[in-house]
Amino acid sequence: MNEAIRNTAAQPLFNPLSPDFISDPYPAYARLRETEPMYLTPFKAYLASRNADVAMILRDRRFGKDFASRTIARHGPGIMEEPVFRSMSHWMLTQDPPDHTRLRGLVVKAFTARRVEDMRPRIQAIVDDSIDRVEKNGHMDLIADFAFRLPVIVICDMLGIPEQDRVIFFQRERTGGRLLDPVPLSRAEIDEANEGHKNSLAYFHKLFELRRREPGDDLTTQLVQAEEDGSKLTNDELCANIILLFGAGHETTVNLIGNGLLALHRNPDQLALLKSRPELMQNAIEEFLRYDSSVQTTGRVALEDIGEVGGKEIKKGDAVLCLLGSANRDPAAYPDNPDKLDITRQNIRPQSFGGGIHFCLGAQLARIEAEVAISTLLRRLPNLKIDDVVNPQWRPTFVLRGLKTLPASW
Ligand code: HEM
Repeated sequence: MNEAIRNTAAQPLFNPLSPDFISDPYPAYARLRETEPMYLTPFKAYLASRNADVAMILRDRRFGKDFASRTIARHGPGIMEEPVFRSMSHWMLTQDPPDHTRLRGLVVKAFTARRVEDMRPRIQAIVDDSIDRVEKNGHMDLIADFAFRLPVIVICDMLGIPEQDRVIFFQRERTGGRLLDPVPLSRAEIDEANEGHKNSLAYFHKLFELRRREPGDDLTTQLVQAEEDGSKLTNDELCANIILLFGAGHETTVNLIGNGLLALHRNPDQLALLKSRPELMQNAIEEFLRYDSSVQTTGRVALEDIGEVGGKEIKKGDAVLCLLGSANRDPAAYPDNPDKLDITRQNIRPQSFGGGIHFCLGAQLARIEAEVAISTLLRRLPNLKIDDVVNPQWRPTFVLRGLKTLPASW
């Protein structure tokens, strides 16, 4: 056991709400990998922290989602009566085949490598516009003024959300992330989530009406038409999956850009290297995904008795949280100093997009958005400095790892 791990051995193995964990979960992951690679939390879920176990669990068809039983185990009976959780139970992300296959099949074409590559000029224009708006000020919040605008505008384009409606999405507090965290929520948090869900539904119902009257070349029109067909998806599934696409389309990518920029500025040698060799950008994006993933965990449930994994006997019905951020720093997969940011690292295979049949639908889109955003920022504002790289303000969420604000000047 290394020195750092021994020194912190008295701390609880997993406390995802502690401020120390939120600001830097990686020492806790190292302890888990070394001491309890399949750790059973008080919420009755195993935490898989080793790269090989995570890779296996995500791809093995003996594991599924079984969202309702996992959620009831975590929050108690009655939780599936809450509108927001009922809605989440219709997400493709929480479904097993055949429903998962049917729902994903309805939208998958919009995310092919070719389709997202065609979006590059539009992505470039949004990024340039974001910089034009603030360039003369000499300072900005890299989250609100830069990282956030791009994925929100792109997903609004893809969903056919009219320009004049978008302002509500820019103004809204981003509080929904707590719902995904593997800890019980307070009544007040559930009420707040239900309220947010109700507001989203009210908006999307209006959007569905609009796209029924005025069809467009967008995902909402496609899904509304599939619903009208009668056999392809229900109204509940339509609402839930539009909300999923909207949230998944931006809450994650904003953090890839934010976490990537912070990591670069904390490692000035890597920042200088990337400025001098822009052709390293694609590899750098893979390294940002690995180094500080914007999604830290995704869950599975054993659909049958599995046998031993990471020293524990996994039985039918057992819930497993795959710690993607830990798998990405496992020395067994990255023997060459996994805690170092190295944009020239070879054979990076981040687990950040999950795996198997649920592998992130927006992975290629997120990569292109981050590539265009970060390379344009380095080129257009080469003297940009982040005000505080030592103590930046993290959002208090665990599954979605990202910054509240990241003020910078040039
Ligand atoms: C850096 C950015 C992103 C990260 C780190 C990320 C991560 C993930 C992860 C971990 C999963 C779950 C996979 C699993 O359980 O195995 C997922 C699923 C999903 N993601 Fe992403 N995502 C990102 C961006 C996006 C974008 C831009 C979109 C859409 C525009 C998107 C849409 C989805 C959808 C629809 C699913 C559910 C897929 C399914 O269940 O079949 N994601 N993503």
